[in-house]
Amino acid sequence: MIRRRSLLKAANFLLAFFILAASAPMYTQFGQPVNTAPKRPWENKYLSPDERADLVIQQMTLDEKVQLLHGLGWRILLDGTTSMPGVRSLGGAGFIPGIERLGIPDLQMSDAAVGVARGAPRSRYSTALPSGVAEASSWDPEIAYEYGDLIGTELRDQGFNMSLGGGVNLTREPRNGRTFEYKGEDPILAGTLVGEEIKGLQNQHVIGNIKHYAVNDQEDGRHFANSIIGKRSMQESDLLAFQIGIRNSDVGAVMCSYNLINGTYACENHYLLHDVLKEVWGFKGFVVSDWGGTHSTVNAAKAGLDIEMPGNDYFGEPLKKAVQGGEISQHQLNSMVHRVLRTEFATGVIDYPAHPKVVDVMHGFKVAQRVEEAGAVLLKNAANQLPLDASSIKSIAVIGARADVGVISGGGSAQVDPAGGNPVITPGVNSGDITAFPPGWVYHRSPPVDAIIQRAPQAKVEYNPGNDPASAAALAKSSEVAIVFAVQHESEGADLPNLSLPNNQDALIQAVVAANPHTIVVLETGGAVTMPWLDQVSAVLESWYPGIRGGQAIAAILFGDVNPSGKLPITFPKSEADMPHPDATKPPAEPPTPTPGLPGPKVGEKVFDVHYGEGLKVGYKWYDAENRTPLFPFGFGLSYTTFSYSELNVTPGDALDVTVRVTNTGRRAGEEIAEIYAGLPESAQEPPRRLIGWKKVALEPGESKAVTVHVEPLFLSIYDVDRNAFQLVPGEYSIWAGNSSRDLPLEVAVTHQGR
Ligand code: BGC
Repeated sequence: MIRRRSLLKAANFLLAFFILAASAPMYTQFGQPVNTAPKRPWENKYLSPDERADLVIQQMTLDEKVQLLHGLGWRILLDGTTSMPGVRSLGGAGFIPGIERLGIPDLQMSDAAVGVARGAPRSRYSTALPSGVAEASSWDPEIAYEYGDLIGTELRDQGFNMSLGGGVNLTREPRNGRTFEYKGEDPILAGTLVGEEIKGLQNQHVIGNIKHYAVNDQEDGRHFANSIIGKRSMQESDLLAFQIGIRNSDVGAVMCSYNLINGTYACENHYLLHDVLKEVWGFKGFVVSDWGGTHSTVNAAKAGLDIEMPGNDYFGEPLKKAVQGGEISQHQLNSMVHRVLRTEFATGVIDYPAHPKVVDVMHGFKVAQRVEEAGAVLLKNAANQLPLDASSIKSIAVIGARADVGVISGGGSAQVDPAGGNPVITPGVNSGDITAFPPGWVYHRSPPVDAIIQRAPQAKVEYNPGNDPASAAALAKSSEVAIVFAVQHESEGADLPNLSLPNNQDALIQAVVAANPHTIVVLETGGAVTMPWLDQVSAVLESWYPGIRGGQAIAAILFGDVNPSGKLPITFPKSEADMPHPDATKPPAEPPTPTPGLPGPKVGEKVFDVHYGEGLKVGYKWYDAENRTPLFPFGFGLSYTTFSYSELNVTPGDALDVTVRVTNTGRRAGEEIAEIYAGLPESAQEPPRRLIGWKKVALEPGESKAVTVHVEPLFLSIYDVDRNAFQLVPGEYSIWAGNSSRDLPLEVAVTHQGR
């Protein structure tokens, strides 16, 4: 009886809840209540995004159509303003006004490579996630999804409905100043992870973006660099990363890059935009130019550019005139508008408008820490120096890199403004005004020193700034262990001069390790660095740019609360001399003479050629093909336990199923990323091996599991330039399994008939 009464009560409660929920008013972004019964035909959610887009287009005037295809100018970006009359911009990097009479929302775009950028002018907090290369070091699609989900959530919370993140340019030039934003040097790894990230982001009803399309692999002279590269090399490297990411995520937008590719600007490159992206890959979203990357009206529109950002020099009045004058057909204009609208319907930015709210700071902390703990890579651990035993350690010297105040981050449009302001003012670089561009070296307030003290409360923990190597060495000498933090700052717009740690940090490490052999180096870098002191130090942890919980995540790894499992998504060379381009290609001081008659470069523009003669041999493929031993190979990363590999089996077919057994042979629980590589038949003329799949597996001590990796035909194929398509070459393939690109103990051969 009592039970029946409480069931009845629960049923009544549920009924009341549903009635209330059903009658709760919903509001549009213009603050008007939503009438739940569709009043306009395109509000019918049972129609497809394409049908809905076409219904809107039928109602649109020429001016309205053109309005959706360009921004309102640089001022919005530079002022971070809402002060322009009639402009509802939230102050993100881009704004396109919607059409209120048709219920088409404003597009509020924000940079969001590693978290929502430019929060300071709006006094908004966003989670500073670890850098993209840290995310990639997790090799974990679930981590990538979570990364995108968090960014999407915080964009929505701040009222934005489009992200400008999703950088996936391959690390072809390791000095590239944006290496930290990207996802490493392998197209299958980078493409898979960016795809998951965008899925997570778009699941929050925010339009995702993948950039910078394409071969935008250096920052020096990025507006004028003409990337010279063969079709096959481009398709199998940089483009493959985009292809996989776009296909897997149905991303809403692709941003074309600043540079030229084989003589034509990316944003008016018919081959890249029309032939490859839209025709062969079937991309249904819209192409948006990088900021100031549009160079023409008719050429660009015909090549496949849909939106000019952030201004309207080419796609404002000139586009309208080109339509009126018949240079651009109504059909072409409609197809551009269709791409924008169908994306808005498909991603839900129209049906589920963002309602600003306060970001969930604690949730962001959790995600940031989880990503860093999965992405930090243990590079050396001689004599099990790590993990440190908090119960027995008596004294710790922490040295350098402002580890007393925070962890460094990468600069440029990816910069997440630091909570509480930048605690480190770089003299001569920045006035402390973090809204200034470039903003100098920005730190997030997650001091490793505090986290270490918290983790080892009974130890004496002393900090030395490291600017005087002798005093740092003296502290190291009197301490049981020394932990040296070392930073390398990267920022958009400029490449690194070399891969050495800046500001005499190599000399600092050398002085410290000479005083105390128990020296642990924690790197906070955007990409690879050289390590002249590697043989002397006892441990090295690469933490990348570790984000707002960097200090805590690093301490958790140093003290063994977390067993590291990250693997390098980029090769660390021994020196620049081993790289495909020992010297980077620099823009010339004087403008070279442009080639008459070529599309793209305009008279007077400082175009210069960057020859990517290494072709297919990007990253580890170069070192393997050229027989050069890297400092740390692609795929490398240590754990506090050890793993062995056995029983490699391959089920042949167009796609392969590769199974391998992984056993934890150590005394700690840990996670291993089992890596699978393929060597193609001789006739394919490929570098010795390529990554074709991987699987992360968690194992208790002594535990053993068989993991299966499904390898799709594309991952085994080569690009056939004559047929303009990927092709499976007939012949014998070697399949390897192991724990890095240079440690592959198991091999089997499979024969394929080709296709
Ligand atoms: C960058 C893009 C960025 C845009 C907007 C450009 O300079 O290359 O990555 O999204 O600015 O801030």
